[in-house]
Amino acid sequence: VLSSFGKLGHRSQSVLHPSGTKDILTVNGEFPGPAIYRHRGERFNVNVRNEGKYNVTIHWHGVKQPRNPWSDGPNYVTQCPIKPGANFTYEIILSDEEGTLWWHAHSDWSRATVHGPLIILPEQGKGYPFPQPQNEVPIVLASWFKGDVMEIIETALQNGGEPNQSDAFTINGQPGDLYDCSTEGTFKMMVDYGKTYLLRIINAIMNEEMFFMVANHSLTVVGTDGAYIKPINTSYIMITPGQTMDVLITADQSPSYYYMASRAYAVVGAYDNTTTTAIVQYNGNYTPPSTPPLPNLPNYTDTDAAANFTVRLRSLANEDYPVDVPQTVDTHMYITISMNTLPCVNNSCDGPDGSRLASSLNNISFVEPSIDVLQAYYKGINGVYDTDFPNEPPYYFNFTGDDLPDTLLTPERGTKVKVLDYNSNVEIVFQGTNVMNAAENHPMHLHGYSFYVVGNGTGNFDNSTDPTRYNLVDPPEVNTVGVPKNGWVAIRFRADNPGVWFMHCHLERHASWGMDTVLIVKNGTTSSTSMLEPPSYLNPC
Ligand code: C2O
Ligand code: CU
Repeated sequence: VLSSFGKLGHRSQSVLHPSGTKDILTVNGEFPGPAIYRHRGERFNVNVRNEGKYNVTIHWHGVKQPRNPWSDGPNYVTQCPIKPGANFTYEIILSDEEGTLWWHAHSDWSRATVHGPLIILPEQGKGYPFPQPQNEVPIVLASWFKGDVMEIIETALQNGGEPNQSDAFTINGQPGDLYDCSTEGTFKMMVDYGKTYLLRIINAIMNEEMFFMVANHSLTVVGTDGAYIKPINTSYIMITPGQTMDVLITADQSPSYYYMASRAYAVVGAYDNTTTTAIVQYNGNYTPPSTPPLPNLPNYTDTDAAANFTVRLRSLANEDYPVDVPQTVDTHMYITISMNTLPCVNNSCDGPDGSRLASSLNNISFVEPSIDVLQAYYKGINGVYDTDFPNEPPYYFNFTGDDLPDTLLTPERGTKVKVLDYNSNVEIVFQGTNVMNAAENHPMHLHGYSFYVVGNGTGNFDNSTDPTRYNLVDPPEVNTVGVPKNGWVAIRFRADNPGVWFMHCHLERHASWGMDTVLIVKNGTTSSTSMLEPPSYLNPC
């Protein structure tokens, strides 16, 4: 199937801006962008034509792209940007993903408005592993900024301080009718009494994990990150940036209007504490309520509510949807995730004591190279990256201790990658830290793979006892995992997808500050276990 959409252009959106309108970058004039529907295992091409004013790339979040890093998209990791006026054709190769994924810009902060659903239906003629819903409804959670997002991040990086994290959240492009500007456009989901609907929820928000609920209705989560799970009945979900969830909801309440609502789980920082809403509206004849009921969302500091939901995720793991969890490990990595400061390059910056804010993995603060890593790797160009990303933290201390000032660690800046052998079994333990007393949940995302979340816990990982409690039977298979505040997560995967794959925190300000690295997975010994040839056209840097 060959399909194409293009035209990244500007259009005016008349919400939440003092002057009434502002320009945002969109795809085909839509915010959120157009939904792409495909069946499991299909291949398709997308031609992207950049009619905007900034460089851009597009990433297919959660698509494994077997042997095909060329179309993965992260700027200066697998490609050089598509410049204004230029275009690039992505070849998207689906394999065993099934459920909700998404696409988004992967250059600077353009993904704030350049994103949309990528929905992967079962193979032609096959159904879901749950009763067929009456209808499917994409629910895209996003951030809205009054200012220009590109200016916001550029200025913040120059001055070294915190960027604005957002001015409002949106559901399917609108903040909802708790805002005067959105009384007209609020998203409405029409339902018939007694029917069941599949919500395909995407957290495209830039900087905050989110709670999500529908007033008076219970939710059944049946999938996450393009894989099915054992159904979870719950009143709320917690969804981190980068994650997706497939959620069934049955219209079993008295016909009326009900709010669906979402608000941040954000324990530190200048978070956005606003609530975005949409309406679930029953078809039929009744008197609409003057104010529909609002759901009782967990508080923004409710770490227990966040953790209690996340630990319930388990792979479906049955005959039709088997799991293949590595039972042994060849390469073990232990990676600390920290907030840091770096010395200011000019006179004085806006970070603590005139420093500039940074962040790191194993005390390395990632620097975007000026030629993409993939091209440098493929062509053997030296000096673009180093292969000495450390397997473990360079310094040990009580990572989750109480008083860990920013002066404890000064990260090293560099483009450091980790090289993995083809088909090796890899375990990564992500360790959250409280450096700068800035512990928070970090949604770690890996390109090119889904991985199994085999364990998690609070405090510091203990290699002698924690692995004995791993779930190696039905752990969830995801592409993004929230590393709990002041806790750890262990993931496993088989390195069977050769290529160059970005790994980073999906909180955009952390990624911008250097909370990123790259995994290079070597080729196997045959051509069918090696990277595909590059496309005939590559964007010049
Ligand atoms: Cu959703 Cu590296 O991205
Ligand atoms: Cu983070």
